[in-house]
Amino acid sequence: DEDPKKQIKRIRQIKQEFGKDLLLVAHHYQKDEIVQFADATGDSLKLAQTASQNKQARKIVFCGVHFMAETADILTEDYQDVILPDPTAGCSMADMANAFQVTTAWNYLAQQYGDDIMPVTYVNSSAAIKSFVGKKNGIVVTSGNATKVVAWALKKKKRLFFMPDQHLGRNTALKLGIDKDEIGLWKPLTNTLVADYPDALRVILWDGYCSVHQQFNVTQIEKLRSAYPDIKIIVHPECRNDVVNASDEVGSTAALISYIKCAPAGTRIAVGTDNNLVRRLQKEYTDKKVMLLNPIACSCVLMNRIDLPHLAFTMDNLISGAADLNVIKVNDETAFWAKKALDTMLNLS
Ligand code: 13P
Ligand code: SF4
Repeated sequence: DEDPKKQIKRIRQIKQEFGKDLLLVAHHYQKDEIVQFADATGDSLKLAQTASQNKQARKIVFCGVHFMAETADILTEDYQDVILPDPTAGCSMADMANAFQVTTAWNYLAQQYGDDIMPVTYVNSSAAIKSFVGKKNGIVVTSGNATKVVAWALKKKKRLFFMPDQHLGRNTALKLGIDKDEIGLWKPLTNTLVADYPDALRVILWDGYCSVHQQFNVTQIEKLRSAYPDIKIIVHPECRNDVVNASDEVGSTAALISYIKCAPAGTRIAVGTDNNLVRRLQKEYTDKKVMLLNPIACSCVLMNRIDLPHLAFTMDNLISGAADLNVIKVNDETAFWAKKALDTMLNLS
């Protein structure tokens, strides 16, 4: 019930008191009320790199979702604490794959295809999945480097097992010239592989998706194109493939921002990603006509769990000494293998 102005003032004061000992990072989908305090904003790749490069801050307040905070913990030093202002801020897509399900799938695929297969996991996955992938000499991928990483992996192994976002996996595979008949779908709820030609498979996708990016469709794009024939449509690669094909550009949150930044003044651009970010871009780039591809789409409810009261509470705890509250710690064994898979990616990026 506290006055938000008081919370804002207190957060600023506490940040100042900690100085360089505290780093506050925010994903692009965070609300403006959080982004205003960020030392760095970014997509998940940039946030992972920012965390790993900072050796000074002992407290890293991570305004994003749980898997991102886990990744930051894995990539930072032991003396650095990564704090998630609301530990229930997860990712519904990451929750679609657990280690038991992945092991079951892997055992089936290994039996079917031998060892000429590599597991690849989107960074939107738990540390346990990344660790599984690291143990099997696989790699992590983000939306910002998917094409490069998948192309690299396809040179190493004949087949890839891509988790948990089927859309990022399919969009990337098709972009790299993989035929749709060479793409299969693993259904974790029934432990079945859906494929017309199982022997021809090059990429096996996990049946996972992002509920936010499923809210965009081709009808919305067609309506906008008929109303504004010169409009540009840009979308995140977690959107379905028909949506990506109907768009002018596809890219990570960082790539979408840079598209808008570089577009000539006056360009009308509709954006298919989290609406918190699109509304911020509308305010920032007033010389362009930035529109929401789906104005009634929900933004990520899980990201939105991080709000001003949670951040103020987190900062108060830092001062009062209850600093262990909401610290995200990945156990050493899991972190070791997950780091192997992350480092393989970071060395490629
Ligand atoms: P980025 O990698 O583009 O930041 O996307 C992360 C995410 O969760 C998108 O839904
Ligand atoms: Fe996960 Fe989708 Fe939210 Fe991104 S937008 S954190 S993929 S649920």
